[in-house]
Amino acid sequence: MPTAKAGDAFAGFDPARVPSPCYVIDLVKLEENLRILAHIADRAEVEVLLALKAFSCFAVADLVGDYLHGTAASGLWEAKLGRTRFKGALHTFAPGLKQDHLREIEDLSDHLIFNTAGQWGRFRGEVSADGRCAYGLRINPRHSEAETPLYDPCAPWSRLGVPPTQIADEDLTGISGFHVHALCDQGFAPFDRLLSATEKAFGGRFGAIDWINLGGGQLLTADDYPASDLIDRLRAFRARTGLRTYLEPGTAVALNAGALVTEVLDTGWNDGHFAVVDCSATCHMPDVIEAPYTPDVLGGDTLADAGTAEAEDPSVLRLGGPTCLAGDVIGTYRFGAVPAVGDRLMVLDQAYYTMVKASTFNGTPLPAIALWDRHNDKVRIIKEFGYEAFEGRLS
Ligand SMILES: Cc1ncc(COP(=O)(O)O)c(C=O)c1O
Repeated sequence: MPTAKAGDAFAGFDPARVPSPCYVIDLVKLEENLRILAHIADRAEVEVLLALKAFSCFAVADLVGDYLHGTAASGLWEAKLGRTRFKGALHTFAPGLKQDHLREIEDLSDHLIFNTAGQWGRFRGEVSADGRCAYGLRINPRHSEAETPLYDPCAPWSRLGVPPTQIADEDLTGISGFHVHALCDQGFAPFDRLLSATEKAFGGRFGAIDWINLGGGQLLTADDYPASDLIDRLRAFRARTGLRTYLEPGTAVALNAGALVTEVLDTGWNDGHFAVVDCSATCHMPDVIEAPYTPDVLGGDTLADAGTAEAEDPSVLRLGGPTCLAGDVIGTYRFGAVPAVGDRLMVLDQAYYTMVKASTFNGTPLPAIALWDRHNDKVRIIKEFGYEAFEGRLS
């Protein structure tokens, strides 16, 4: 997970202006990110799609559509969202495609990408093949770059994509493109190696296809990302292969463009000082537990390996959510001004893989969602969730 201490723009945001908890999207930063992606697309002559799985905030669909070429969906519901709420092209890839979703996904999508040659073999007779939707195949170059197995689609025994050894004898008539995704929060060098490995493993088949989708997983909008290296690499790749090329970042679109506002509900001591806040790692920022990583909190220094010495420091506080899960811990921080009950805090960089993953475990309320325009300091609360959001998913 990105650890860059960005989102410091939120130092200029008064968290009392929104309900708590609340995801606040920084529209200015979002547009800066989109501008970088549009620049890469323009210079490299590739098309960039927003991966909806990371960030599906359709309130900003017009802004996204001003810069990107469309969206990438993971199944029928995201495809519907992409087609009805967002602009541009729609590419859909679902590892587990259901037969009764097939025709509807196909009607919604410009590209439909199959996960295995077997899946394509089963469905090829059922697709309309009327030329409106192009069919692709996810390939798996078996080249691992991701740092944790949780995010490594190229690990042995992976279900994601066709490995080189399995493609040799396949009849891919009707398949016009390939899709590869194997990175997570990484820079240019891993992408460069992945692309070389992909060319090496599947380049022999490139003559039979027209396009390739090179996935997401790159921090394209991070301050230190070498966009010009990527542009050069993609231009050379395109010149050599002639393939129409797509990227589908999620994280990079909303990187550092949001914070989760939370309020301190209680404080206490048990070997060390802790605070219970009204946002939850497990419900509202699950990657904190799954990845795992410790998010930055405005005004606090993250203490990665806090031990006994820190526990005795009155300026150190371990923040945890309001659920029963012992591990619902956001992190341990040293604060200049130690937060007290009723104080508001901002957990930084929480726009992606948060709203799309949030749950109501323990009956925990879902955070509201707000848009903040830093240029004119206007705040618009675009969504608030009540008890119905919890009850509506239960029976
Ligand atoms: C197929 C595919 N494309 C794109 C993405 C977006 O990746 P990121 O949000 O890391 O850019 C993912 C993330 O899991 C993915 O699985």
